[in-house]
Amino acid sequence: MKTHSLSIWSKIAGCVLGILLMNVVSLYAQNNTGPATLILFYSKTGNTRAVCQALQKPLNADIVEIKDVSKTPPKKGEKPDIQPKSIDMSAYSSIIIGAPTWGPGPVPVIRTFLQNNKLNRKKVVILTTTNVPMPDQFTAGNKNLVKNAGGNVLAYYQVAVQEGPKSARINKTKEQVVADALKLLPEIKKALLK
Ligand SMILES: Cc1cc2nc3c(=O)[nH]c(=O)nc-3n(C[C@H](O)[C@H](O)[C@H](O)COP(=O)(O)O)c2cc1C
Repeated sequence: MKTHSLSIWSKIAGCVLGILLMNVVSLYAQNNTGPATLILFYSKTGNTRAVCQALQKPLNADIVEIKDVSKTPPKKGEKPDIQPKSIDMSAYSSIIIGAPTWGPGPVPVIRTFLQNNKLNRKKVVILTTTNVPMPDQFTAGNKNLVKNAGGNVLAYYQVAVQEGPKSARINKTKEQVVADALKLLPEIKKALLK
């Protein structure tokens, strides 16, 4: 009888130890897999760069700037020479794509990058900086580009870099633009959890 109850207790102790060990291993894994989010951005005049750099730390993300390194400015319809041309995104489950608004279509650098790189069902948040928030027909181009690259668009945010009435718009300071972008953090985090 005594031997029997001892063996039950040793089985329970074994289970408890096993569960504890599994938790320790999974905690270790969670803390050592690095950021799961990658911020990819293009910026010509610095607004999108400032916004993306400000979001990097609070989102615990890696960040890569895609640059236009064309020797001569690409003519209309020509693809720019970009750097980096491709990125190994296999470690990331979510991608934030930052870009300025240039009329209704995607900016050529981001278009070129997404034509060369597949997003393999990754979660994507698009974030643009823009003089004024654009209507749906202007955001559709970026959304379709991401979808065609295989990404799953979870959300689209626009950070306005100007303020004031139409007749007298003025540029916000970079600090104000960044502060406005940081207000989006709770929403971006929530979107990434979808
Ligand atoms: C070629 C070009 C086209 C633009 N077209 C628009 C536009 O259609 N609507 C708008 O609100 N802002 C437009 N802008 C303003 C930019 O979207 C805005 O200044 C943006 O914050 C620039 O981002 P960046 O500093 O990261 O390059 C345009 C800017 C450039 C240079």
